Amino acid sequence: MIKKISFTVALGLASLGALSGQKLLCQEDGNVTEGKKRAEEERATKKTKPRPGPTPGQQRRAASSKCILTGLWKNELGSKMQIQEVNSDGTFSGEYRTAVSLAQRPIQRAPLNGSQHFDEAGQPTFGFTVNWKSFSDSTTVFTGQCFVDENGKEILETMWLLREKAEANDDWGATRVGKDVFTRIKGQNVDESVRSDGAL
Ligand code: BTN
Repeated sequence: MIKKISFTVALGLASLGALSGQKLLCQEDGNVTEGKKRAEEERATKKTKPRPGPTPGQQRRAASSKCILTGLWKNELGSKMQIQEVNSDGTFSGEYRTAVSLAQRPIQRAPLNGSQHFDEAGQPTFGFTVNWKSFSDSTTVFTGQCFVDENGKEILETMWLLREKAEANDDWGATRVGKDVFTRIKGQNVDESVRSDGAL
């Protein structure tokens, strides 16, 4: 009996709802909008998750993204150069051991002197002169920039002008131009692993 009554009430309520369908829907809409608003408010007030700091690998890469000219370098010809400490004004000196030469005399170590910028990004431009006086009358000037690749590897991209000694009125071919790329190598000095006769 009770079951029968409640069924009838439920049916009555359902048909009432059908009749005033529009109003019921509006109420429901209002509830949805309210819910959405609340969710949006919550999202807006929710504190953004603190981002994790750089990983040790990222920190290492950031630290090594600065190029330091000091050290031992080798170019694609097999020439080596040693750059000493860079002074606070950016000047530096070192030694160059070329693997190739136009000179008749045997190759010897040659002094180099140069200067670099102190670049915020750690990829400075620089220039240096090599005086080949120990075996040649020529002089070479190099200019370039040190780049650090995504693996932290330093590369010196340079261009050079090599001036040979010539007669004043016949010097049209006395200057050569070229490009050398240097990468850092392990070792103590420019003579290391270079044969005593200068051959590679
Ligand atoms: C000379 O031949 O008179 C002196 C040696 C010049 C060597 C040049 S300098 C540019 C190029 N890069 C090198 O490493 N060696 C050659």
